[in-house]
Amino acid sequence: TGLITMDPGYKNTGSCESKITFLDGEEGKLLYRGYPIEQIADQSNFEEVMYLLIKGELPTQEQLDGFVADIRKNTEVAEEIVTMLNAFPQGSHPMAIISSLTSALSVFNADKINVATEEEMYEAAVTLLGQFPVIAAWSQRKIKGLPLTKSDNSLSYVENFYQMLFNDGSEGYKADPTIVDAFDKLLILHADHEQNCSASTVRLVGSSHAGIFASIAAGISALWGPLHGGANQAVLEMLEAIQNDGGDVAKYIGKAKDKEDPFRLMGFGHRVYKNFDPRARIIKVAADNVLSTLGIEDPILDIARGLEQACLEDDYFKARKLYPNVDFYSGIIYKALQIPTEMFTVMFAVGRLPGWIAQWMEMRQTNQPIGRPRQLYTGAATRDYVEMSAR
Ligand code: CMC
Repeated sequence: TGLITMDPGYKNTGSCESKITFLDGEEGKLLYRGYPIEQIADQSNFEEVMYLLIKGELPTQEQLDGFVADIRKNTEVAEEIVTMLNAFPQGSHPMAIISSLTSALSVFNADKINVATEEEMYEAAVTLLGQFPVIAAWSQRKIKGLPLTKSDNSLSYVENFYQMLFNDGSEGYKADPTIVDAFDKLLILHADHEQNCSASTVRLVGSSHAGIFASIAAGISALWGPLHGGANQAVLEMLEAIQNDGGDVAKYIGKAKDKEDPFRLMGFGHRVYKNFDPRARIIKVAADNVLSTLGIEDPILDIARGLEQACLEDDYFKARKLYPNVDFYSGIIYKALQIPTEMFTVMFAVGRLPGWIAQWMEMRQTNQPIGRPRQLYTGAATRDYVEMSAR
């Protein structure tokens, strides 16, 4: 069978070459197609970032307009998808809804599954970019018991998504531009992160030439877990639990350090970042700005700051190089924007969609072979079958 190199969790295994995102964990550096995340978050916008990740270069105005127009052609969602949405019981987790409905998009876009050329891949991509925010916004309408909203294609991608989440039907409804800006920045910060669990899942599923919808539905499922994107929901629930428990952060730090206790501090630690997570730095500032713009004084933020400070000074966290990650402060902003806690990971998914698409395209365009890891077998040696009566 040859020699198998074991690397559980792929801590040291490269699975592909990629030109999309560069990440230096020691330096806390993150580049999208070569551009530093700090510059992108400050100067760019989510539409442009989607183009950059998927196409590889910053667009000219004309290229950007064409791209946005292609997405807008695809914002109608099949009536049957609404029927499926309505079949989910009240209280369904929205991540279950969006992964199921994204998978179901295969049925209504069957001509976009078997793609071979770059154009066919692009068509499949803009179809998903158009329909996904509609489905994501509807999952929130569903949990809030509100009537479904339609896409308004006169708005930017992010403002449109925001209004689909929150439009209360009042005449002249208009989202607050400062909030839309903050939202845009959050989506940018989540847009890609090289071979993380969900992107690797998208690539692995896609490597069998399953279509874009099935591959990305699988990525959404991977994102849901609390060790990955689900951490943002888990962070806020943890901070609320600490608050309800009297605000004693030391107690929770003690629990996290106790190897007998399965509790981990959510929003801390990262497989690659060992000094700081550059996204967390930007989000921390954005959280302060959003809260002051909205005039919100949230005691949860004080708990978060206290927890961060105590961990930075704690030997356990120092020795293991555990710092707040992107999910630590994002939930505080989402909460301030009145997004329900169960929706936090859906926001992450909308942000990550262009990254997943870029990873899927690059994988297909570079003709990656089917993903198929090996194993080290540790089970029984050959033995003879035993009849039921003799067991
Ligand atoms: N709280 C307490 N201890 C921790 C934590 C934590 N959050 N994270 C890691 N450790 C400890 C871990 O117990 C281990 O200790 P020891 O060496 O004594 O056995 C050491 O640090 C190394 O951890 P690991 O589990 O081997 O590291 P990993 O690279 O496999 O896991 C991680 C990375 C992000 C899954 C992990 O740090 C974690 O579970 N963090 C909490 C969940 C979280 O915030 N996830 C979001 C990640 S960033 C955004 C995203 O991917 O969506």
